[in-house]
Amino acid sequence: MATAEATGTGVSFALTEEQRALRDLAHEFAEKEIRPVAAEYDEHQTHPADVIAKAHEVGLMNPHLPDELGGAGLGGIAGALIGEELCWGCSGIATSIVANILGALPLVLAGTEEQRREWLPPLLEEPILCSFALTEPDAGSDVSGIQTTAVRRGDEYVINGSKMFITNAGRASWFTVFASTDKAAGHRGLTAFVVPSDAEGVTVEKHLDKMGQRATDTSALAFQDVVVPAARRLGEEGQGFKIAMQTLDHTRPGTAAGAVGVARAAFEHAVEYSRERVQFGQPIAINQGVNFLVADMAAEIEAARLLVWQAAWLLDQGERATLQSSYAKRFAADTAMKVTTDAVQIFGGYGYMKEFPVEKLMRDAKLFQIYEGTSQIQRLVIAREIFLPRD
Ligand code: CAA
Repeated sequence: MATAEATGTGVSFALTEEQRALRDLAHEFAEKEIRPVAAEYDEHQTHPADVIAKAHEVGLMNPHLPDELGGAGLGGIAGALIGEELCWGCSGIATSIVANILGALPLVLAGTEEQRREWLPPLLEEPILCSFALTEPDAGSDVSGIQTTAVRRGDEYVINGSKMFITNAGRASWFTVFASTDKAAGHRGLTAFVVPSDAEGVTVEKHLDKMGQRATDTSALAFQDVVVPAARRLGEEGQGFKIAMQTLDHTRPGTAAGAVGVARAAFEHAVEYSRERVQFGQPIAINQGVNFLVADMAAEIEAARLLVWQAAWLLDQGERATLQSSYAKRFAADTAMKVTTDAVQIFGGYGYMKEFPVEKLMRDAKLFQIYEGTSQIQRLVIAREIFLPRD
């Protein structure tokens, strides 16, 4: 049978042998190292340092780091395959493993050779973490409203302000911090810096207690008169907003892939349970009310994955994928929420109980509609790309 590739359209859904091997590695890791501890780590909000170390050892951390720095130089599709499988295991533990991409990507995109060589290779040598310190207590969706300031003083900047909901912040060795160097300039006054977590004046204010993805450390940070050499500024003053947006364009497909993994896990549990659960003398899977829910789950998971792969593929071609990344993030996050909610429904009273797996998946799914831009922000980005397209 002729494939799309063979007929020259350039569209192929087939993974290469290398990609299949990577997916299998991530799946096996999720099955053996993540799933067995997921419920316990969720209950106690345990930081999964041991699982992170194992993921690092088998090469599942930082796959995106460039090969000239000793990294694997893998792109969006590889990141999506890893993200889906690890989140199929547990999105709380998986987020702790994969979130380095957010902290590191601004350096890959905008760092000088010297900055990249100083900060990125250590991530390959040891399982150390870095965080993307963008969000603030009063600036979440509205990035241009960032209040943290960086005031130039000779060859240094002095940073003051607070950050909120920062993934891995309580465990990170360094942060990519976004601060305003010119308040009057709004988004054009934002600038990015690399700040080590042990710099004087940096405090992890609070480890936050979350509804879901509880194995991921999420913390609030404070910066009080933190002195940062100008050599740790990424790009020029005023480029921070664009660096943040370009980073999110690259990371949203991987996060969307994680949502697909959570949805797939809930779907598999729902299928198995509806085959086994007997009511009115027959498995509940016989009922159209149940099997239509399952049919919709399957179709929407598949559609979400295709959107993820499209966005990731475009990024791998070096194309701008703002629109496609937001399609993927919006659709996959909302799909994860819907599928996990329907899985709880299929399990009925058991689904609402903590001893069954779908309750955790529903709590975990909710965060995909919030972090890396809410589902409403993704719609805003999509609408702007339709009505006010940028070059
Ligand atoms: N790439 C490059 N440039 C971009 C861009 C992109 N994707 N998006 C916007 N820009 C440019 C625009 O062209 C414009 O350029 P000019 O200055 O030359 O005019 C400039 O940036 C401002 O753009 P907008 O007018 O669109 O800016 P806005 O203030 O209206 O905000 C927004 C746009 C899309 C709402 C943005 O604020 C946004 O993405 N908000 C959501 C933030 C977010 O996702 N936070 C998540 C934090 S990270 C996290 O959650 C991760 C975690 O810890 C797990």
